[in-house]
This record gives sequence, structure tokens and C-alpha cells, in this order.
Amino acid sequence: MAVLHLLILILLSCTKVECFDFNFTDFQQDNRKDLLLSDNSTIFRDALQITPDLNGDVKDTPGRAYYGKKFRLWNKKKGRLASFNTTFVINISNKDSPEVGEGLAFVLTADADVPQDSFGQWLGLVNATTNGTSRAGIVGVEFDTRKSYEEEPDGNHVGLDINSCYSIVQRSLSGYGVNLSVGVDVQVVVQYDGKNMTVFVSNRNETQRSPVPVFSVPIDLSLFLPESVHVGFSASTGEFQQLNCVRAWEFSGEDVGEDSNLLWVWIFIPILSLGLVLGLGFYIHRRRRSRKDDPESGFPNIEDHIKSSTAPRRFKLRELKRATSNFNHKNKLGKGGFGTVYKGIWKEEEIAVKRVSKKSHQGNQEFIAEVTTIGNLNHKNLVKLIGWCYENKELLLVYEYMPNGSLDKFIVYDEKTGKYDEPSQTNLSWETRLLIIQGVAESLDYLHNGSEKRVLHRDVKCSNIMLDSQFNARLGDFGLARTIQQREKTHHSTIEVAGTPGYMAPETLLLSRATVETDVYSYGVLLLEVVCGRKLGNESELNNYNNSIVNWLWEYYRKGRITDAVDSNLEGDFVEKEVECALILGLACCHPNPHFRPSMKNVLAVLTGEAEPPQVPLERPSFVWPALPPVFSHSDISLTTTQFSTFSEVDGR
Ligand SMILES: *[C@@H]1O[C@H](CO)[C@@H](O)[C@H](O)[C@H]1NC(C)=O
Ligand SMILES: *[C@@H]1O[C@H](CO)[C@@H](O)[C@H](O)[C@H]1NC(C)=O
Ligand SMILES: *[C@@H]1O[C@H](CO)[C@@H](O)[C@H](O)[C@H]1NC(C)=O
Ligand SMILES: *[C@@H]1O[C@H](CO)[C@@H](O)[C@H](O)[C@H]1NC(C)=O
Ligand SMILES: *[C@@H]1O[C@H](CO)[C@@H](O)[C@H](O)[C@H]1NC(C)=O
Ligand SMILES: *[C@@H]1O[C@H](CO)[C@@H](O)[C@H](O)[C@H]1NC(C)=O
Ligand SMILES: *[C@@H]1O[C@H](CO)[C@@H](O)[C@H](O)[C@H]1NC(C)=O
Ligand SMILES: *[C@@H]1O[C@H](CO)[C@@H](O)[C@H](O)[C@H]1NC(C)=O
Ligand SMILES: *[C@@H]1O[C@H](CO)[C@@H](O)[C@H](O)[C@H]1NC(C)=O
Repeated sequence: MAVLHLLILILLSCTKVECFDFNFTDFQQDNRKDLLLSDNSTIFRDALQITPDLNGDVKDTPGRAYYGKKFRLWNKKKGRLASFNTTFVINISNKDSPEVGEGLAFVLTADADVPQDSFGQWLGLVNATTNGTSRAGIVGVEFDTRKSYEEEPDGNHVGLDINSCYSIVQRSLSGYGVNLSVGVDVQVVVQYDGKNMTVFVSNRNETQRSPVPVFSVPIDLSLFLPESVHVGFSASTGEFQQLNCVRAWEFSGEDVGEDSNLLWVWIFIPILSLGLVLGLGFYIHRRRRSRKDDPESGFPNIEDHIKSSTAPRRFKLRELKRATSNFNHKNKLGKGGFGTVYKGIWKEEEIAVKRVSKKSHQGNQEFIAEVTTIGNLNHKNLVKLIGWCYENKELLLVYEYMPNGSLDKFIVYDEKTGKYDEPSQTNLSWETRLLIIQGVAESLDYLHNGSEKRVLHRDVKCSNIMLDSQFNARLGDFGLARTIQQREKTHHSTIEVAGTPGYMAPETLLLSRATVETDVYSYGVLLLEVVCGRKLGNESELNNYNNSIVNWLWEYYRKGRITDAVDSNLEGDFVEKEVECALILGLACCHPNPHFRPSMKNVLAVLTGEAEPPQVPLERPSFVWPALPPVFSHSDISLTTTQFSTFSEVDGR
């Protein structure tokens, strides 16, 4: 049966796949009609000059050049992601200049325009406004000839960029016998199979050698790009005269469009129906079998829930036992949500294994929620789920290992004791703290607005934020996240209230459910903790309205001394304006009235300096329920009851 299945699949793919192909062995003037060139880019000396020598000056210039037609990268309806291969030859050289600087990138992009002020370090990809935001809508493979920030290995590297000129992976080419900046032809092959992007780089004069893969990265391009994209090149120069050109370019992409022809339909309908009947039989057979495997639960087949493109793999219990030395307590990293986390080594890589406690009565359900939710999510500020295991009633989740542990370990002032815990801990600089709160905001914005389904985290707190080796924040522990279909615009509803005292918005208990606004509230508390360097306060006072850190800070704000609340460990080493903005933003997020809290999008805009923080009243407003929206026509008003009372205090759990 499986063989027949395969046969049908092969037949289908043979007939269906048409290609998006082109091949430029060089570039001539009459190729202009097949290309889309930005103002400054041109064809000259048989090559595509992305940043040409314009009137003797190429300093501070960005440029882009694309193939004339858009490429259908993915097809939402069919849930298909195209594969493509492209080979191109680049030549980067200097012009009357002792040095070179900046670079060139192969790009896939939503928008053809060159962003304003994207010269220099931005490589024509993004500018200071769009950098790091989904507005950029660009994925690129960069060839950079200048080390413009600390993480870059050198002035001769290749990297993968997503909505940013800061690469998620980067490799120096010096070890590959390639020097980008000496005016030689460098041949590059980029292969994308719908799952991984692999980049090969070699000197063109040595192409007899099999091309050398420089990196291969799993990436779901449909998360960052629209269905149809421009493919081409982006480049920039900075203070030096660098010429960026492409001398040859071939591209071959799979077609995932929906043109079907009738003949095809008539030939394949009979075969398809046969396949369906057989497939159904096979499915039922498998379901029966898997029921037998998990008698107590009717445990659904998780693979069915997860898009295969970024699918976490299934581990064997045996593998995870070996990786963690049989869950040795020495490898214990901590206890979280509903299980214990162990460090492990698997295939020479460090991993974190969460063993979901058997007692956790809803373990099964939560486990499924976690795997299905995380499996479909991919963002640089989320902890990546590598895999999972369900065997012998053991539920396990495998994550990438975060060397710097969780954020709560860095927040050392404990109000309960009035003491600093372990003063030996690394003191986070203001820049790092800002990076962390921005990172968390980005991950929440992604969960709320950026992924296919809206996801509420429901338990945002310092101990759920992990720090990677560069101290980037990574939001973890989705055990409590439940997905809501974006199309049902109604609020999520559930009976039990989940969350952590002190981080829960005052309305949580009255609403008995989480909302986007309750996540924003928790984020606000977290932001205040990070900036002020203190834990959220005395547990007996953690009854949501009288949340002590919020009250404490509002008092400073009322007195016009909000920046005095900043962590004294920073020893004055911070930008006053930035701290003020962040703290006011934190208060706005903790506004007792959910309608007055900013969205995560607004939060990000404030943190990146694009917007001013929202207005916050000097006196902390009382918690009033039902909460009235700023404008009475707000549709949410229908949710409220007729009851209208003022609470000065709402009890905790
Ligand atoms: C592109 O054209 C060159 C020269 O004609 C040829 O060697 C190469 O195989 C072609 N590539 C493809 C993918 O057809
Ligand atoms: C063209 O280059 C000049 C500087 O050389 C730059 O000011 C201008 O913005 C560029 N035009 C575009 C469309 O990028
Ligand atoms: C890309 O190259 C790989 C390996 O040569 C090949 O298997 C695949 O079919 C190619 N894909 C396309 C879309 O040409
Ligand atoms: C960045 O580019 C966008 C779009 O081109 C533009 O609206 C914005 O003003 C630019 N920002 C800067 C700082 O140049
Ligand atoms: C650009 O965005 C990245 C995030 O992708 C961030 O780490 C970096 O600091 C930003 N750079 C600048 C100069 O703003
Ligand atoms: C590349 O070549 C330039 C110019 O010859 C030289 O200054 C630079 O050190 C070389 N870089 C590497 C990594 O070899
Ligand atoms: C690379 O470009 C430079 C400048 O256009 C040119 O002098 C050089 O010959 C090119 N390299 C090759 C191998 O063609
Ligand atoms: C993607 O790359 C990873 C690691 O580089 C590798 O383990 C995995 O097998 C690759 N997946 C595919 C589909 O090639
Ligand atoms: C290929 O080009 C590089 C220039 O970086 C040069 O060092 C090398 O000798 C060349 N190899 C051959 C076989 O010509």
C-alpha cells in the first residue's frame, strides 16, 4: 500500500511541478527588460552592478536588483513551500580606495523598494527603523566585507539575515580559501529544500572541486515572507569605494502555484480516488494501532498537528535517558511549570530535556498543547523545541540548551529579605536589559500578531525567559499557551485561571480567562523587574491589584522621580531618557484598566524609539470593574455585566 502511495506521489509531483527558471551567463543591456533595477543599479561590463560607480563616487550607496517576475515561494491554500536552487557569481572589488567595506546579499523580499538610508552596515536590506522588525520582510544571504559589530567574525564572512543585517548564523570565509574583497569571482550556491537553507561558497576558478557547504540552517521561509517574493540582490557601500557586482546568475525554483489543467485532472482523478480509498484504509489501520499504544488517552498523533517544515523530531526514551545519564540529578537544571528540566548531550550538542511530571494531572493535554503550539512557531526570541518523546507514559520535551539560564537568576534584589541574592552574579548592563525587554516584546508580538494562529502565553514571568549565549531573551514554557484561531476574534475562554501571582492582571480572576491584555500586564511587571533589578515583591501582597513593584514604582512616578527606581547596580551607567521611557511603558502595561494597556506592537515601537510612551496618569487609577474602554463604542463592552463596582483590592488565589 505504501508503495502505491509513493507511486501516486511521484506521479503527482512529476506532472505538477513546473519550474520558475532562468539563467544569465552574463548581463547585457537587453537583459534589462527581464530585470528590475533600483535607481542606482545598472548593467555595465557584462555584469549586474548593484552599487555602480556613479560619477566617480560610490560611497554611502545602497542598491537592489531583482529578476523581473515574482517567485511564488509558498502556497497557503496548499500548505506548500517551494524549493529552489540558485547559483551566482559575485565579484567585490575596491575602486581607488585602500580598503573595502560593506557588502552584497542574495535576497528574497516582499517589497522591491530600497529602504531609505540603508547604506553602510545595513547592506541595502533594512534601515534603522525596519531593522529587526517584521516590516522589513526580507531574508538574505549576506557577503560582508567589513566587521561592523562585535558578533561578526571578520571582514570576510557569509551570514543568514532575517529582517535584519544582524545574521542569525555567520561564518568567516577565510577558512574556505575565499577572500571576498580582492576582486575575484566567487561562486555561491544557495539551496532551499523547503526545510533547510544550505549555502556553498567557492572560488570560481576552482569549481572543479565539489562546492563546499558553509552552513545549512533549518528555516521556514513562509514565516517571514509573503507567498510571492522578489528574488535578487541587495548591496551597499559605506565610507569606502566598493564595487558590488553579480556576473552570472541562474535560478531554478519549484512551482507551487495553482494552475491545474483539465487533462491532468481527468487522468489523475481515478488514480487519486484509488489512492484516497487506500490511504483511508491505511490511516484507520494506523489509528487503531496507535490507540492500542496509548490506551489511556487516545493520544493524538502529534505529527498530524505539526507542519512538517519545522517539525520537531520524535526521540526515543532510550536516547534521552542516555543523553541525560538517566535523568541524573547532577544534570538537573531546574523545576519549571509542570516538570523537571535536565541538561543533556545529544549528538555532541547540548540540549535541555523537560520531563513532564506524571502527577501533573493535565500533563497529557498540556503536553499536546505545548508540542503543537511550539512546533509551529519559529522566532529568534522563542526557545526552540527540538523534539519530544512519549513512551511508557513518560512525556518529554527537548529544547535547545540556554547557557545563561533563566532571567530570574539575574534579578537579585529581593524585597522580602531586603537583600541582594548571590552578589557574584553577572550584573546585566543597561544595553543588555534593553535587549532583553525588546526580545521578550518581539516574541510576544510574534505570538499575538505574527503567527498564523494567535497564541497567548498566559504565564509570562522572569523564570520563563531564558538567555542564550549572547544574552538574547528567549521566551519559553508554552505549557499553558492555548491557541486561538485568529479568525474567531472573540476572547479565549477557559474555566481555570492560570498564571503566577504578581504577574496576573487584576481582571484575570473576574474574567477567568487570559487575554492579549493580561499577557501585556505580565510583560509590564517583567519589564519593571528587569529595569529596577528587583523581584516583584512580598508574596503576601501579591494579590494582583496591590502588586508591590507596580505600586512602588507608581509612587516614584507620582513624585516625578521615576528614574531613581532604576537598579542601583547599574551605577548610573544608562541613558536616562531610555530608562524613563521603559519605566513609563512598564506602568502603561500595568494599567489597571486593560483597555488602556498598549499592544505589543506599540510596546515595540516605544522600545525602538519609534513612538513616545503612552500617557500614564500620575496617580495609579483604581481598579474598576467592568473596565470601560476609552471609547464607548468598543465592542468589548458587550462582555461586561451591569455590575459596576470599585475594588481597592482583589484577593489572590
Ligand atoms: C546556464 O547556462 C550555462 C551556459 O550555457 C550552462 O552551462 C548551465 O548549465 C545553465 N544552467 C542551467 C541550470 O541550465
Ligand atoms: C543612490 O545613491 C545615492 C548615493 O550615492 C543615495 O543618496 C540614494 O539614496 C540612492 N538611491 C536609491 C534609490 O537608493
Ligand atoms: C536543487 O538541487 C538539488 C540537489 O542537486 C536537487 O535535488 C533539487 O531537485 C533541486 N531543486 C530544484 C527546485 O531545482
Ligand atoms: C526606513 O525605511 C522606511 C521605508 O523606506 C522609511 O519609512 C523610514 O523613514 C526609514 N527610516 C530611516 C531611519 O531612514
Ligand atoms: C538590528 O536588529 C537586530 C535584531 O535583529 C538587533 O540585535 C540590533 O541591535 C539592531 N541593530 C541596530 C544598530 O539597531
Ligand atoms: C583579503 O585580501 C585583502 C587585500 O589583499 C587583505 O588585506 C585581507 O587581509 C585579506 N583577508 C583575508 C581574510 O585573507
Ligand atoms: C572582478 O571585478 C574587477 C573589477 O570590476 C575586475 O578588475 C576583475 O577582473 C574581476 N575579476 C575577475 C576574475 O573577472
Ligand atoms: C537540515 O539540517 C539539519 C542540520 O544541519 C539536518 O540535521 C537535517 O537533516 C536537515 N534536514 C533536511 C531535510 O535536510
Ligand atoms: C584562484 O583564485 C585565488 C584568488 O583568491 C588564487 O589565490 C588561486 O591561486 C586561484 N587558483 C587557481 C587554480 O587559479
